[in-house]
Amino acid sequence: MLICSDKYNDEELRAVLRKKLDASRYEHSLGVAYTACSMFLSHGHGSTEELSRAYTAGLLHDCAKCLDDDKRDKYIKKYDIELSEMEKQHPYLIHAKLGAVLAREKYGVTDEEILSSIRWHTTGCRGMSFMEAVIFSADFIEPNRKQLSCYEEIRPLIFRDLDKAVYLILKHTLDHLNEKGQAIEEHTQEAYEYYRILMNE
Ligand SMILES: [Fe+2]
Ligand SMILES: [Fe+2]
Repeated sequence: MLICSDKYNDEELRAVLRKKLDASRYEHSLGVAYTACSMFLSHGHGSTEELSRAYTAGLLHDCAKCLDDDKRDKYIKKYDIELSEMEKQHPYLIHAKLGAVLAREKYGVTDEEILSSIRWHTTGCRGMSFMEAVIFSADFIEPNRKQLSCYEEIRPLIFRDLDKAVYLILKHTLDHLNEKGQAIEEHTQEAYEYYRILMNE
């Protein structure tokens, strides 16, 4: 597998990430990378170049997830990252935005679509590109995740009808947040509305 990085080859990138992430997060990242490759293959994007992009995005999508608070705040300051109110109140959301910045600055990724896939992997957004939708979905259903009842319907769909899979993931997320009385991030709400309308067309 090739890595889309100006700085690391695959072996080096995996070695760096293994140090930066805890063991289960590293396994999850490999799971997302290989799930993303499977999705690319099943949707007819099977060239080595395309698979490398899927693999790189999957491997790096959580690259900012295991930072301690001080380090995270240092990077936010250093790269002048603007946080929404929601991100300030729910700091776990920050790793998506910060991850895209670190993928560029620290991991040598220049492919804009890989970076935007990292940016939107947690909340989703309206009208996601194929790759953004792949990383968003792969993050949700990769095999290391704790089993959810909705997987039975969603997992086969990611290979056949990606828009519907994205819609069902967003619906599941919103139902879950509403049930728990938790706030909903604005891009997640917008994404849900976008894919709900798409499903009704
Ligand atoms: Fe994440
Ligand atoms: Fe993840």
